[in-house]
Amino acid sequence: MPQQRTIIQLGHAVLRQKAALVASVAQSTIQSLIEDLLVTLSNTQGVGIAAPQVGASFQIFIVASAPTPRYPDAPYREATVMINPKISWLSDEQEKGWEGCLSIPGIRGWVPRSTQIHVEYTTQIGATQKEELSGFIARVFQHEYDHLQGVSFLDRLETTRDIITEQEFHKLICNK
Ligand code: NI
Repeated sequence: MPQQRTIIQLGHAVLRQKAALVASVAQSTIQSLIEDLLVTLSNTQGVGIAAPQVGASFQIFIVASAPTPRYPDAPYREATVMINPKISWLSDEQEKGWEGCLSIPGIRGWVPRSTQIHVEYTTQIGATQKEELSGFIARVFQHEYDHLQGVSFLDRLETTRDIITEQEFHKLICNK
């Protein structure tokens, strides 16, 4: 049975490790980890989760975007499991956008990211998938990909002045 896992918080060493490649997608421990990640993410208002965030240092993350109070402008994207992901191309063009992280509750950062990326990953059934992503989904991918390298969105900020509290973020969104 898939189970809700505890989300590891910033400061725990696992969030600073480089995650291991998944050697066999079909392995039962990997499949149950994926199921747990799907359940854990669905019980949050997040738009993505990476395996290290539940204490499993493997190259797996999920992107699942829909508008929520956390991300009111998010587009719809069905939950997609991405294993051993690679970024083959990043646009020079970047834009800043608000990001939060389930492992860093209470704050948001104005983070620069490439607006377009070309990616490749292995699916939950072991197939290779290539995609061209842009905008918010490209942002989520880059954020989750960073988790697999031990990097958080705080490391991507241009200045600490680009950090605000969740409370102020909601005021910004409501006043738009
Ligand atoms: Ni995160």
